[in-house]
Amino acid sequence: MRIILLGPPGAGKGTQGERLVKKYNLPHISTGDIFRAAIKEGTELGMKAKEYMDKGELVPDELVVGIVKERLMQPDCQDGYLLDGFPRTVTQAEALSAALGELNTPLTGVVNVDVNQDELLDRLTGRRVCKSCGSTYHVKFNASKVRNVCDKCGGELYQRVDDTVETVKQRLEVYRNQTEPLIAYYENKGLLFTVDGSKDIDEVFKEVTAILDAKK
Ligand code: AP5
Ligand code: MG
Ligand code: ZN
Repeated sequence: MRIILLGPPGAGKGTQGERLVKKYNLPHISTGDIFRAAIKEGTELGMKAKEYMDKGELVPDELVVGIVKERLMQPDCQDGYLLDGFPRTVTQAEALSAALGELNTPLTGVVNVDVNQDELLDRLTGRRVCKSCGSTYHVKFNASKVRNVCDKCGGELYQRVDDTVETVKQRLEVYRNQTEPLIAYYENKGLLFTVDGSKDIDEVFKEVTAILDAKK
């Protein structure tokens, strides 16, 4: 299966992605995670990406597209993958489509996780992420058993630098202007499936897996 998870910041792409890749045994390709790893390592890519991410802006298409194309050529992507947070602009979607056309590997589907804007702000400002394994929590909606400690690996939880109220508002605006048009883009291609992402995490997972099981 070759799947895209589409949705605004805080929709639950990462949360659902974590579970989906386990169930379907797919590599989880999150461009946000790739950039955060590069920032941590202090690479040139990381330094460039950080400039944009800290402001809640998108990293330029030409930087993102090359990285994803390279990633999709890796052997673990042969039998499918889950893309989380890519594509995010029509230019990125066109580039992906061209690359997949060359590889003769069409997309299975695009899952659009729909959540209203008010809830997104609460979700993002309360999010906590494990420093060691990257698992995602929420102080209210999905709390770890011990405060600031990861249930899965015991790692320390932290708050993303772009999860402040100001930056979240900017990210939501960027989503509306640059990413939301992809809903119509994929709908026109007959690839779009929309789920109600405002339900609880298990409910959303059930909806998504029902869609994907029918596509297998
Ligand atoms: P990225 O890391 O992709 O961030 P994002 O798209 O803003 O999305 P998030 O990761 O914030 O949200 P999510 O949907 O994964 O939600 P989560 O599951 O964590 O990108 C960061 C930055 O990198 C961008 O701003 C940009 O600068 C750059 N970038 C990345 N990709 C790019 C690209 N392709 N092009 C250009 N630039 C790019 O959930 C959020 C919270 O809600 C958590 O606390 C979770 O526990 C909770 N939660 C989840 N589901 C539920 C639920 N059903 N009910 C209640 N709470 C829930
Ligand atoms: Mg995410
Ligand atoms: Zn952990």
